[in-house]
Amino acid sequence: MKRCFIIPFVLIICLLSACISGDDGSDSETTTPPPNMEAIDGVVTQEEYDHKAEFSNGNFVVYWRFQDESIIFAMVAKTDGMIALGFEPETGMKDADMVIGWVKDGVAYLFDCYSIGETGPHPEDINLQGNDDITAYAGVEYGGFTTIEFSRKLITEDTFDKDIPKTGILNVIWAYGPEDSLTLGHTNNGGGMLKMDSSDVVGY
Ligand code: HEM
Repeated sequence: MKRCFIIPFVLIICLLSACISGDDGSDSETTTPPPNMEAIDGVVTQEEYDHKAEFSNGNFVVYWRFQDESIIFAMVAKTDGMIALGFEPETGMKDADMVIGWVKDGVAYLFDCYSIGETGPHPEDINLQGNDDITAYAGVEYGGFTTIEFSRKLITEDTFDKDIPKTGILNVIWAYGPEDSLTLGHTNNGGGMLKMDSSDVVGY
């Protein structure tokens, strides 16, 4: 009789201690981790980026943040077609290190390019004996806007890439157009100076 009384008592103590410690019996190592707000997934979430620059009244927006010796950019433009960002052009588009991409049928495409003339052409770096230095990218088309996030090293040491500073000014050009194409051109373009350690921008 005494034994019958002890077993339920031990069970109750065990259950109580589980409640107090918040242990629901599952192995916490195997629970789903919280969503990664900083993922390169084509979605810009609040506070994901430290810096932001708007051009053309918000029709083209650039976000960026640094991660060690790399940089993660997001470019967002009001189009279902091509969107592009260029770094440090000389005159017009000439000698700009460019990334050009689009989203088609839910799949993102992004090319590491270099403009060899004032109005192009801008072959892919790999076709100029350079390298594709985009280390990760993803894109989403939603509500008439295309977003592409991508990462690259600040200094790639590729002849067809420009170094990106952590502070000071980065001269940029941007463009977007209605077609999913590397060659069909843009309907909207502009440029400006990003202040890399702030969100101030001088541009159009
Ligand atoms: C997709 C193929 C492209 C073609 C065929 C093309 C063609 C042209 C042409 C003909 C012009 C001179 C006339 C104008 O201002 O519209 C121009 C200017 C310009 N393009 Fe492109 N472009 C292309 C891609 C790009 C890309 C990828 C960017 C940015 C990353 C860009 C940025 C610009 C800018 C900023 C200007 C104005 C330059 C200035 O007047 O200082 N273009 N483009």
